[in-house]
Amino acid sequence: MTTATTEAAPTPTYRKDYTPPAFWIDRVHLEFDLGETGTEVRARLELRRNPDAAADASLELNGEDLETLGLKLDGRELQAGEWEETAELLTLRDLPATCVLETRVQVHPEKNFQLSGLYQSSGNFCTQCEAEGFRRITWFLDRPDVMARYTTEITGDPERYPVMLSNGNRLGEEVLTDGRKRVRWEDPFPKPSYLFALVAGKLHCHAGEFKTKSGRKVALEIYVEPQNADKCDHALLSLQQSMDWDEKTFGLEYDLDLYMIVAVGDFNMGAMENKGLNVFNSKYVLAAKETATDDDFESVQAVIAHEYFHNWTGNRVTCRDWFQLTLKEGLTVFRDQQFTADHTSAAVKRIDDVRMLRLRQFPEDSGPMAHPIRPESYIAMDNFYTATVYDKGAEVIRMYHTLLGAEGFRKGMDLYFERHDNQAVTCDDFRAAMSDANGFDLKQFERWYVQAGTPIVAVEAEQDEAAGTLTLRFAQKAPGGQPGEEFSPMLIPMRLGLIGADGQDLPLILAGETEGPTERVLELREGVESFVFTGLSGRPVPSLLRGLSAPVDLEFERSDADLAFQLAHDSDSFNRWDAGQALFGKAILDLTRRVAAGQPLELGIEIIDAFQRVLLDDTLDGSMRAFAVSLPSERLLAQSMEVIDPDALHTARSFVRAELAKRLVHDFRAVYNANRTDAPYDLEKASIDRRRIANAALGFLGALEGTEGAELAATQLDASDNMTDAEAALAVLVQLDVPQRETALEAFYTKWKDEPLVLDKWFTLQACSTLPGAPERVEALSKHSDFTLLNPNRARSLIGAFAMANQVGFNDKSGAGYRFLADAVIVLQAQNPQIAARLVGSFNHWKRFDAGRQALMRGELERIRAVDGLSKDVGEIVGRALGS
Ligand code: TRP
Ligand code: ZN
Repeated sequence: MTTATTEAAPTPTYRKDYTPPAFWIDRVHLEFDLGETGTEVRARLELRRNPDAAADASLELNGEDLETLGLKLDGRELQAGEWEETAELLTLRDLPATCVLETRVQVHPEKNFQLSGLYQSSGNFCTQCEAEGFRRITWFLDRPDVMARYTTEITGDPERYPVMLSNGNRLGEEVLTDGRKRVRWEDPFPKPSYLFALVAGKLHCHAGEFKTKSGRKVALEIYVEPQNADKCDHALLSLQQSMDWDEKTFGLEYDLDLYMIVAVGDFNMGAMENKGLNVFNSKYVLAAKETATDDDFESVQAVIAHEYFHNWTGNRVTCRDWFQLTLKEGLTVFRDQQFTADHTSAAVKRIDDVRMLRLRQFPEDSGPMAHPIRPESYIAMDNFYTATVYDKGAEVIRMYHTLLGAEGFRKGMDLYFERHDNQAVTCDDFRAAMSDANGFDLKQFERWYVQAGTPIVAVEAEQDEAAGTLTLRFAQKAPGGQPGEEFSPMLIPMRLGLIGADGQDLPLILAGETEGPTERVLELREGVESFVFTGLSGRPVPSLLRGLSAPVDLEFERSDADLAFQLAHDSDSFNRWDAGQALFGKAILDLTRRVAAGQPLELGIEIIDAFQRVLLDDTLDGSMRAFAVSLPSERLLAQSMEVIDPDALHTARSFVRAELAKRLVHDFRAVYNANRTDAPYDLEKASIDRRRIANAALGFLGALEGTEGAELAATQLDASDNMTDAEAALAVLVQLDVPQRETALEAFYTKWKDEPLVLDKWFTLQACSTLPGAPERVEALSKHSDFTLLNPNRARSLIGAFAMANQVGFNDKSGAGYRFLADAVIVLQAQNPQIAARLVGSFNHWKRFDAGRQALMRGELERIRAVDGLSKDVGEIVGRALGS
């Protein structure tokens, strides 16, 4: 017999309910006694009643999984009955206006598989406190508006934990009479508890230095497990580049004498910006050509930059409450995007970011998890570290930049820091600084923080050839386009141009003007508005929403001929790419309908010609060409189908690949041979460009009938001295039913079985194989001795990749893929609810499929919901998906 759970459903927290804390905490002193079977944490809190709060308000401290050993108030040991304690709150009544509270608790890092709070990874101690993990370490006002100055003492066995780190500056260390070591740290800057960090263990230190613009020397220290000592150069260089960039771009200088980064193998997210002591998923620190791809190198650089930039946007100025998360995340993502654009290619970076936005954020915004970038409520805050808060949030920041210009944006940033340094503030404060610094009315712009969903901008172009005018009529429509839904028009920056018959941009002369630039940003503010361009002859092709100047969906009828023309000529490289994607996407979706209707398939010659022109366009760099010739993914295309038919879509897209490969085989061979090289690997842009286009060509050659693709891939896999070319080759082989497939997979495994990050790739490539029998193969891999659900990278590498990047395999109509995911979620939610909640999100779009698949997915969601003591993280996602 099973006992029914009697726990009440977890209640949401609402943005409107924000109230300031009853007490402030000015100083915190922490003492950690590290142990193998439990760690004792003593905290000394200097409390001061908030003058704005009621004089009789009690102190309510947050805690989770803490064993309270004792409390002292102003030096006096408290007796049972002098405080109230529940699983999550410690309440003290009638406290004096200022007092010192000392607490002693025991925690169990050795049994903490949630990876939130204090936990162990490969025998080392580390912490993760954002969003609400500090309460798993000690009783505290665990909210970001309580900012305190911290000192920390760490005591432990010097053999096991030769390195002991915390935030700020090292004050000193001593050896105790019992042989244990004690290290003392002090962070001079006030900070919220989510930025606290502690690390202890056997770690190698890769050291460097940075001299700030005002001439201060900052010590840089990257800590990794000893076997990874040779993979730190790129991270260090990236950190130096980031520090330099923030000085030059925003005038922002680092503020401590020491900056530390620690790489750990078990980490829920990408990395964490703890003050002076970042903790990173090792995936975003370690990079060597043998083990990391070009894309990995670029992600390391981007994540190092992201966390570094948080020192000002997040740490010096932080969030008042978690609803304001996009204040620091949207802004910091925008900053890291600009940094990468400046260090690589701005055009390619923009394409890459928009691709991800449309693939992850747009669907999130049209499904059960849709929320504004500033959410109104949450059950588990960890579930709101979303593509919407991060990536749409960055798009909203980009719009300020577009509307105000780079200089105006900088003025706004300067005012923001001038007003709010060392404060915990809101998104409204940021908008006010941007507005006040520029005398620009941003009242309407608030709607970007309030309305969820991707707005639609429908455009109609009307030409009067006799008058030489073109009228563009813009209509804003509610997300999803349902009539009658409540929607207020947004302030939308619309960057655009008009392309003349010769492929050149025409001057944009609005009615009443005599001349104009060839590109403008229109400010759309009304539900419907029109702009009349004059002085035109012939029929110009409008190039709208250049660079995706707003996170909206453009509805604009364009012929295949116009799309092909834009792909060939648009001066905005983003729109060139975008036109190509629209053209190829239309063709694949059209063929999908034909597959479903059992009609014969044929790829139009105009499509093949347009594709060939861009493949061979040597005015474009290799990265740009590689992006231009990559077909939109099945997952992306599925979004524009009324009812998703994963099988027909896969058949249609595979047909297009095979057809292009066959018809343009000479071109693919030529491009491959011209760019593929066994020259020693380097990270020069030209080399990266060559690898990208060569590997794109290899991908198509792999779609040929016959053995040519497999042979080329197998040869490349053997010959390459770097992971970029090796992974690309293996990616081709795993999709083919050829003898080289098994051989290559086995050899790769044998070579890399002791490199966890490379082994993750091995799992991922197989998880993405669309050969028949995918669910069974993935299930078998989950029983592999190297697989474990408890390591987030490994869980994502197999299960996340299968559910998110193998649409046809995961949605196998037997339901085996769904069952497999649900089984994993049910096991994992008891151990690591954050990761389980991420994985279960793959069911969010169940209503977009046919009745059969809907029933199967819904069945799995209900099976999960019925689990006894289901974690609130998973419960929230499943509840939303099922519509309760
Ligand atoms: N603030 C981190 C960032 O830079 C995000 C993060 C890291 C996080 N670890 C986390 C969020 C754990 C929630 C839970 O984006
Ligand atoms: Zn961040």
